[in-house]
Amino acid sequence: MRIQKIMVVGSGQMGSGIVQVLAQSGFQVVMNDMKEEFVQRGLAKITKQLNREVEKGRRTKEEVTALLSRIQPSTILEDGKDAQLVIEAATENKKVKHEIFKRLDEILPAEAILATNTSSLPITEIAAVTSRPEKVIGMHFFNPVPVMKLIEVIRGLATSEDTFTSVMELAKEIGKVPVEVKDFPGFAANRVLVTMINEAIYTVYEGISTPEGVDSVMKLGANHPMGPIELADYVGLDVCLAVMEVLYEGYGDPKYRPCPLLRKYVNAGWLGVKTGRGFYKYN
Ligand code: CAA
Repeated sequence: MRIQKIMVVGSGQMGSGIVQVLAQSGFQVVMNDMKEEFVQRGLAKITKQLNREVEKGRRTKEEVTALLSRIQPSTILEDGKDAQLVIEAATENKKVKHEIFKRLDEILPAEAILATNTSSLPITEIAAVTSRPEKVIGMHFFNPVPVMKLIEVIRGLATSEDTFTSVMELAKEIGKVPVEVKDFPGFAANRVLVTMINEAIYTVYEGISTPEGVDSVMKLGANHPMGPIELADYVGLDVCLAVMEVLYEGYGDPKYRPCPLLRKYVNAGWLGVKTGRGFYKYN
């Protein structure tokens, strides 16, 4: 099946990045979210990013205009009824995602592929709420999407070879490097990365070092581009907590216990860059 039109559900940090990368590669993209203001906010983010590229001389204004014209803003899932692929990048909540997949299954043509950008929820369970589990797959992008090369590609128990091949090919077409990983809690990247972030937060919680100290240690001693605490704020502390909860519940192993300090910050609404405050303060 030739993929030409793609709907992205969710226009937040990940969704807008995915829309940008797809439109950059020439695809027609439906950018969907629940409210017009969310879609407009996502579009503004993309426009700002592309204008920066014009300033740097990497793109012409005409290219940017053409690219933006390939993005169709949308607040109803029915706008994707003639899409060959949907990539869902909504809130990291099982109930929300299951609801969306039930609706998508009703609306999209039977041959359409339904992908999810979940960072940790089981693909097999999401697939099971649809009548086409062979067409459901995980496509896990990384933040910032336009920069990060990786897509973890995760098959559910019933995902067909055709679906898998189409998604691997698409990933390469949009300039990414797909890596197949198994459908287990946290997949591979977040099991390693977010567990490290959680451990870094424990290091602060136990008074072993400060956020600045832990970040310096990992940047200068392990060559990480961002320290783990800074990265936690960037990813979103709510997202980090959600991943840890999935690991803790999924493996039943105390080594994945979310740090109480992480939970406290999330309960306070200090979610990181997006709320202006996390372990650090932002303008
Ligand atoms: N969108 C598009 N481009 C962006 C961008 C964005 N949001 N943010 C940065 N860039 C681009 C810049 O334009 C710049 O491009 P050029 O060099 O071509 O001009 C380049 O990235 C480098 O940016 P900066 O010079 O501003 O800053 P930097 O060198 O510190 O890099 C960074 C920024 C790429 C974010 C880098 O710090 C980094 O790689 N950090 C780690 C990111 C990471 O680990 N991501 C994974 C998070 S986990 C996840 O996403 C999965 C999950 O499920 C939780």
